[in-house]
Amino acid sequence: MKRIPLVLTAAVLAFSLSACGGGNQQAQPPANQPATEAPATETPPATTPSGSYDAATAETMYKNTCSSCHGQTLEGAVGPNLQKIGGQLNKEQIMGILEKGKGSMPPGLVTGKDAENIAAWLADKK
Ligand code: HEC
Repeated sequence: MKRIPLVLTAAVLAFSLSACGGGNQQAQPPANQPATEAPATETPPATTPSGSYDAATAETMYKNTCSSCHGQTLEGAVGPNLQKIGGQLNKEQIMGILEKGKGSMPPGLVTGKDAENIAAWLADKK
């Protein structure tokens, strides 16, 4: 009769030890986690930065329409330097110049939304 409790104790001990040993199986990461499908952050959101203008479009338009007189990098040529034009004129004033022209600068080179976009872009050059 003395042996049975010992065997039982040993069996319980062995069982609980092995149960403990196997407990770390839960530490494994869930297999269904999509590691490569994180949301893409490369493409910028459609909304534009402060002042709400499309700088890329404005720059292309400037290069096509204005750079012959104002220089590739706004440095000035026939027309004045525009690199810090935002410190002198606000968006509305620049739109007025684009609409009506100024001196030997012809009016209506860009109009409507294009004029607004390029004016906002220039007004941010301070
Ligand atoms: C044919 C040459 C020419 C083109 C093209 C031209 N400009 Fe001008 N621009 C001038 C000249 C010259 C002046 C100076 C007018 C004056 O003060 O008498 C001027 C003045 C300006 C001014 C005012 C600068 C200041 O210091 O008062 C702004 C702003 C301006 N241009 C923006 C533009 C933009 C934007 C475009 C393109 C859409 C453009 N210009 C295209 C010749 C040009």
